[in-house]
Amino acid sequence: MADFNENYEALRASFEDALHSYLAGVTFKPKILDESFRYSLQLGGKRVRPVMMFAAAQMLGGKIADVSALAVALEMIHTYSLIHDDLPAMDNDDFRRGQPSSHKKFGEGQAILAGDALLNQAFQICMEECRKGRTYVNAAVLIAKNAGAFGMIAGQAADLYFQGSETAGEKDYEFIARNKTAKMFMSAVAAPAYVYDADENIVSLLLEYGKNLGFLFQITDDLLDVGGNFEQLGKTIGKDAAEKKVSAVKVYGMRSCEAMAERYCELCLDLLSRLPYECGFLEEFTKFVLKREH
Ligand code: IPE
Ligand code: IPE
Ligand code: MG
Ligand code: MG
Ligand code: MG
Repeated sequence: MADFNENYEALRASFEDALHSYLAGVTFKPKILDESFRYSLQLGGKRVRPVMMFAAAQMLGGKIADVSALAVALEMIHTYSLIHDDLPAMDNDDFRRGQPSSHKKFGEGQAILAGDALLNQAFQICMEECRKGRTYVNAAVLIAKNAGAFGMIAGQAADLYFQGSETAGEKDYEFIARNKTAKMFMSAVAAPAYVYDADENIVSLLLEYGKNLGFLFQITDDLLDVGGNFEQLGKTIGKDAAEKKVSAVKVYGMRSCEAMAERYCELCLDLLSRLPYECGFLEEFTKFVLKREH
């Protein structure tokens, strides 16, 4: 575990370097846009998606530098999704990453625009990466597809649509979690496989792993919304029940959620064992997601 933490921190530090280089090279006007853009990105967060992307790249025999721009883009898309997720019109959360949410700091209009800016800059980065060739185009298409109306946005739309519903059930939860969370995880682990033009069966194992890890991640997020604490999570606890969300806890109950999380973890480990690579880090990472407290 000590090794895992060290390796995680090393990958995270590589990501922070890549993000810092990007931010050092741009200035946006007006100043408030520059501030709001940097604010949410630099509050921290676990950086799980970039860390997964780097780990997958290394596992496939590649280098962090090959995917660092894509990782910056993916984290920007994720950060924009959090800014919009916290808006009063969505989950109405005043805190994110331990600090006031973007709309609390800059007002709703500027928060919406900070999110829009993050999304558009992310796609500028992806398109510039596409100049490197066909394999980067495939990776960029995956990222775009999984972030948009075939992915995260679809999940967020369903999450809002079913809010307050007394009849929404397992199928609806599955749709929500698969799209709002798992699809971004699929991009994180499979984009490097596209970049390196890996065999089809490798790509599909990684996509399957990302999907199941995403389910595990959202179930633990829903569990932490009940049993976690603000200091560790940096966001308001008890929001899902207060906002009548179709969460895993609501649909399955606490006990079943814990059992499901164990099952998803086993499934992920099994998928990793079928890859012809050394997957020690991703195995530990999967167990970290199961046991996480933040
Ligand atoms: C929160 O994501 C949103 C979900 C998909 C549950 P993270 O838990 O990765 O948030 P940060 O990036 O660490 O703040
Ligand atoms: C959000 O899920 C997933 C996103 C795509 C942003 P949640 O609404 O449960 O995330 P938190 O708990 O606010 O981080
Ligand atoms: Mg939400
Ligand atoms: Mg939320
Ligand atoms: Mg949540």
